Amino acid sequence: PARLAILISGRGSNMQAFIDACGRGDLNASIALVLSNNPGAAGLTHAASAGITTACIDHREYDSREAFDAAMVAEISRHDPDLVILAGFMRILTPVFIEPFAGKLLNIHPSLLPKYPGLHTHQRALDAGDAEAGVTVHFVTPQLDGGPPIIQARVPVKSGDTADSLAARVIQQEHIIYPIAASWLLQGRLRLSKQGAILDGDPIPATGID
Ligand code: GAR
Repeated sequence: PARLAILISGRGSNMQAFIDACGRGDLNASIALVLSNNPGAAGLTHAASAGITTACIDHREYDSREAFDAAMVAEISRHDPDLVILAGFMRILTPVFIEPFAGKLLNIHPSLLPKYPGLHTHQRALDAGDAEAGVTVHFVTPQLDGGPPIIQARVPVKSGDTADSLAARVIQQEHIIYPIAASWLLQGRLRLSKQGAILDGDPIPATGID
């Protein structure tokens, strides 16, 4: 089976979706490492109690983003992953991190990119009066939340929605689409090219596959 490294900063429900997908056999992979920048991340405890190797590299102990990124690359590389999964990892990454894992580094972002890169995506969708919201899995490039999209899932915005109620609707979709994107990459169906993401030889549209 392929080896996954999963990076988290908090709750880790997307990490849990990967644990479940591996357990069901939907993903022919095992989780070699769960790494967090945050010693208090709840997901670290969940991973450890599932018997998964965990590590924490606290970004506050580093003088620069580059030094932090280099420490993470060293730790992750020891575990020789086939795929590096950002799952609610809330630090901005520099090329020091991104380049060594180019083409095998995925992120999930809770908006219909290119709308709403950055933070507070659900509140921004509500403030804009959007009729739908959603989530994007994309390849990571040095451009923040700007790498080529792979899959998007859409949900309706309902009257009376708050950022929390919308987030709860979106996260259910996150847990479905993220392991699917990872499985495509592990099966060799998906790759990152200079032109963008390629699935089964065809370019993926700029909005990702619906
Ligand atoms: C998820 O909604 C993920 O899309 C988002 O953080 C949440 C983490 O939840 N990621 C970002 O905002 C990345 N900038 P989880 O810890 O339960 O997976």
